[in-house]
Amino acid sequence: MKGLFISMEGPDGSGKTTQIELLKEFLKEKGYDEIIITREPGGTVISEAIRGIILNKDYAEMNYMTEALLYASARAQLVGEVIKPALESGKAVISDRFVDSSAVYQGMARGLGVENVYKMNEYATLGILPDVTIHLDLPAQVGISRKKEQAELDRMEREALSFHEKVAEGYRELAKRAPERIYTIDATQSIDEIHRLIVDRVSKVLEL
Ligand SMILES: Nc1ncnc2c1ncn2[C@@H]1O[C@H](COP(=O)(O)OP(=O)(O)OP(=O)(O)O)[C@@H](O)[C@H]1O
Ligand SMILES: [Mg+2]
Repeated sequence: MKGLFISMEGPDGSGKTTQIELLKEFLKEKGYDEIIITREPGGTVISEAIRGIILNKDYAEMNYMTEALLYASARAQLVGEVIKPALESGKAVISDRFVDSSAVYQGMARGLGVENVYKMNEYATLGILPDVTIHLDLPAQVGISRKKEQAELDRMEREALSFHEKVAEGYRELAKRAPERIYTIDATQSIDEIHRLIVDRVSKVLEL
């Protein structure tokens, strides 16, 4: 089997984790017996430690550049320790968020600039990009209200609604810039319908 890298993107509460579980089952049926699922920021011991700093709700004064570099650091460790070796040995990797999250959250919503953020991340990721990126498009308000029914909100989730609206719009803009890689799905649809659209796209692009 050839290595396969898929990332799942979208605002908080858009259904990324839900869809990753379903996609994993599909890939298993297609013969990928080892499927690596990683989450960002996190996915390794060191990256999870960095996650603890990034999402700590007591660190409200964190500088945006510090935030962007911490995300890139967590990602560098994840790529080096998990993603690159997995792809080299022909495994399938599904990442719950990847570099596009930084482009949208830090580049657009925080205003650091998309190109600046991609540049810093190209260095951190050794230039590795997903084969397919699924963008779950959801109005910010809908995602946040889905989340509020769950656990306590972290530092990023506590941002104002206007921030989350910038994120939702940022993803739409990003998808327009890279339509061959980033596939947008209306995430207000049912879980099953979204899964069907993801499977269609992944099968087509990867010729499964
Ligand atoms: N298509 C859908 N329609 C309605 N509810 C959904 C749908 N998909 C997921 N949900 C529900 O919305 C909530 C958030 O879903 P999920 O955790 O998969 O989102 P997420 O994008 O991973 O969120 P986070 O950004 O917090 O990781 C869950 O309670 C889930 O059951
Ligand atoms: Mg999730």
